Amino acid sequence: MADPVESSAPKEGARALKVAAVGDLHVGEDAQTSYRDLFGEISSEADILVLTGDLTNLGKPREAEMLAEDLRNCSIPVVAVLGNHDYESGAVEDVTKILRQAHVHLLDGQAVEIEEVGFVGVKGFIGGFGSRMLGSFGEPAIKTMVAESVNEAMRLENAMRQVRAKRTLVILHYAPIADTVAGEPPEIFPFLGSSRLAETIDRFQVSAVVHGHAHRGSYEGQTPGGAKVYNVAMHVAKPSGRPYALLEI
Ligand SMILES: [Fe+2]
Ligand SMILES: [Fe+2]
Repeated sequence: MADPVESSAPKEGARALKVAAVGDLHVGEDAQTSYRDLFGEISSEADILVLTGDLTNLGKPREAEMLAEDLRNCSIPVVAVLGNHDYESGAVEDVTKILRQAHVHLLDGQAVEIEEVGFVGVKGFIGGFGSRMLGSFGEPAIKTMVAESVNEAMRLENAMRQVRAKRTLVILHYAPIADTVAGEPPEIFPFLGSSRLAETIDRFQVSAVVHGHAHRGSYEGQTPGGAKVYNVAMHVAKPSGRPYALLEI
């Protein structure tokens, strides 16, 4: 049976940090489910909660307030990135403010160090994978799209350079590799992430990478350079048997 806890923990010295990671909560105004109990459970299972974007369903401030309310039941630090859904209503500044007021370390091209582990977060963007990645060619609209993808990878690189800790967890919304989106229709792979993120990750030493967005994707994969990647979207089956993944960093 697979171990329910994935370990990238240091072999000697520093204590391993237990991270619970989950994405795509999609908190909606009409939501029947509260995450209060889940956050309570996670607080007793892990040292840190990581949220990999699509925190809200439509990016409405009211949805962010509902999530903030549920997070009052979370007694451990929370580190998060936003997802595409959090941009839908054009209220991303309000959503960000509400979540930061709820003590969420909301990362958008920054790093935060907690208990000797560096958490680096950026949303990422679309663009496709490997040799099939969309190139900057043709219409200005295509070039703008590719530029956004390159820009997110550069922001990830800048955030990585801020890290002084020996252990690093990279937090994304979009996938950096195709392996963890496998299970989704192949026609939409280019909209689920970009290999440019993996190219950046592989220039550094990282303990693990978590992302969401691909609800029907696969749990586990690795970058060409060997960094472990986990799709922690809450709909994806995980060895923990719970909606969240448990990682030892
Ligand atoms: Fe989602
Ligand atoms: Fe998404």
